[in-house]
Amino acid sequence: MPLMNTKAMFDQAYKHGYAIGAFNVNNMEIIQGIVEAATEEKAPLILQVSKGARNYANPVYLQKMVEAAEKVSGLPIALHLDHGDSFELCKSCIDGGFTSVMIDGSALSYEDNVALTKKVVEYAHDTTNHPYITVEGELGTLAGIEDEVSHAVGSYTRPEEVIDFVTKTGVDSLAIAIGTSHGAYKFKPEQCTRDENGVLVPPPLRFDILEAVSEKLPGFPIVLHGSSSVPQEFVQIINANGGKMPDAVGIPEAQLRKAATMSVCKINIDSDLRLGCTAGIRKHFAEHPEHFDPRQYLGDARANIKKVVKHKLTEVLGCAGKADEIIAKYNEMNK
Ligand code: G3H
Ligand code: 13P
Ligand code: ZN
Repeated sequence: MPLMNTKAMFDQAYKHGYAIGAFNVNNMEIIQGIVEAATEEKAPLILQVSKGARNYANPVYLQKMVEAAEKVSGLPIALHLDHGDSFELCKSCIDGGFTSVMIDGSALSYEDNVALTKKVVEYAHDTTNHPYITVEGELGTLAGIEDEVSHAVGSYTRPEEVIDFVTKTGVDSLAIAIGTSHGAYKFKPEQCTRDENGVLVPPPLRFDILEAVSEKLPGFPIVLHGSSSVPQEFVQIINANGGKMPDAVGIPEAQLRKAATMSVCKINIDSDLRLGCTAGIRKHFAEHPEHFDPRQYLGDARANIKKVVKHKLTEVLGCAGKADEIIAKYNEMNK
């Protein structure tokens, strides 16, 4: 089966109350860890590539490795551009064989966001030279400090804008801001309380905004960015082995699970993979200072990524065991 767009995935996810995991990929071990987990759990996948990942790894390498992942696993997989920031970048990905793109105009004025998103949608949905490519737009901005897609100050999505945005642009899905943010430090300590172990407890997501958006757009797939939970197990391993990540905090899994049963069909996870990777490598070097073969420590990183992804698929996203129904829907839609 070729790499697919997200239509069949979101159709099933919405109908059956689960979400597809959208995992960021930057190198071979990350892709392998994710795909090994999904293969064991028979789960669909969105493998997403940021502008930074393309610059780091070269787009052709990533594209070919994702194609290899599909070939090896036989799973339903979409190759998605994460946070595309220009028409040219989206076009380059579409022309190169991506099956889905995000155009992130959330830093622009509302009018400019509509205009840019519409231009990408027109190109992506025109099937003269390529298959139908699904497009994700964004309304509202996520706060965060660590990557090139974050803003210092966030702003929640305004439910009163979503019908106009979706109608004018023709997007296939919409990323909204309800209190998640990118990176491993999603909240400042002063925004949180602390539990009995001194671990930060963040403020709850704005489910009232999600509900208001879903009421305006019944049946329409919603996307959550910045949805890592920052497992304290990995933070502790990192800190115990020479790292320094005080007060790293993420989104509680129970809230993501709840969102997945609602209109949220795609949940973006990157930081948790980075933490698993780093914890594996730091622990490996602490225990085996004599090792210098990358397969040894990158093997541990890959094993941690697999562990994180398995947990997400089964306990958070609810998409374990759903690969077959998505393939059946894809075949029906593409008869
Ligand atoms: O949303 C952002 C992703 O975590 C990608 O981050 O731009 O550092 O590749 P990156
Ligand atoms: P995290 O930093 O929470 O993993 O979010 C990733 C993301 O939103 C990628 O687009
Ligand atoms: Zn994001």
